[in-house]
Amino acid sequence: MANVCVITGGGSGMGLAATKFMPKDKIIVLSGRTVKKLEGAVAELEALGYTAYACACDTSKRESVKALVAFAQGLGEIKNVINSAGLSPAMSDPETIVRVNALGTVYINEEFSKVMNAGSVIVDVSSNSAYILPSFIINKKDYKLADTDEEKFVKKIIKKASMAKGDYQRSGFAYSLSKNFVVWYAQKCAFEYGKKGIRVCSLSPGLIATDMGNLEAKDGGMLIPMSAEERMGKPEELGFALATVADERNGYLAGVDVLVDGGSTNGMKEFKKNKK
Ligand SMILES: NC(=O)c1ccc[n+]([C@@H]2O[C@H](COP(=O)([O-])OP(=O)(O)OC[C@H]3O[C@@H](n4cnc5c(N)ncnc54)[C@H](OP(=O)(O)O)[C@@H]3O)[C@@H](O)[C@H]2O)c1
Repeated sequence: MANVCVITGGGSGMGLAATKFMPKDKIIVLSGRTVKKLEGAVAELEALGYTAYACACDTSKRESVKALVAFAQGLGEIKNVINSAGLSPAMSDPETIVRVNALGTVYINEEFSKVMNAGSVIVDVSSNSAYILPSFIINKKDYKLADTDEEKFVKKIIKKASMAKGDYQRSGFAYSLSKNFVVWYAQKCAFEYGKKGIRVCSLSPGLIATDMGNLEAKDGGMLIPMSAEERMGKPEELGFALATVADERNGYLAGVDVLVDGGSTNGMKEFKKNKK
């Protein structure tokens, strides 16, 4: 049976970059909301010698995710899922950001893990923004609601985000909270699905020069002078990191967040320490 690799948000950015480091004997399924974009990406991969398919999916809708799972399952055994779909502060309002970034991750992990077997892997893309929140803001009790009462979960997170002043800041706060949730949730799934032999990790990029990263460069670039690399990351660098974490040969990497941020999170911590 053929092995299948599914990439949400695979029509662009680091999701698409990751596919180009995948073994060519795998069937690639690219997913996102914009069919035209997916078809262009599939053509690009086919020209490189990959077997690739496009499947439209809105990860913030469970039924849409279920249809993606069924499509991928129809092609072979699902071995790798890279969940790169996401919306940034400049792209949307707080509620949509929470529904796509946080609940989308819940739907992807839950629905794919039902059909994945031992030796498979899920990588959820978070962000270094997950690390900028003060610890008193993070409430794991609220995060647990994502499994029991989705609507209450969304309300709690957007209520917190509403404390910020200005539309962009509120979306930014919701983004950081949603990505902090992704790190927490991926770790929780690693322990639950680990029993079945499914490996789960999250990966947190710093500011990367994709469409999204370029859109956020003004605010997101604040950490660059504090980082070790002192530059934005390249999509292909993140593509390589994602593909490596998702590779079955990396079988002992589980239950952690892999921070691929040019050292910006640690640079920020040092900066704050030195300021005291
Ligand atoms: N670039 C950065 O600086 C940076 C930094 C930290 C974290 N990240 C995270 O990295 C991931 C990839 O982002 P990127 O930088 O590669 O940007 P990107 O090129 O904008 O990729 C994001 C992809 O997600 C898809 N998407 C958005 N909403 C979706 C939904 N509801 N359902 C399914 N697909 C959806 C988009 O396609 P459609 O619009 O067609 O659906 C797009 O292809 C995101 O999760 C982002 O939050 C990025």
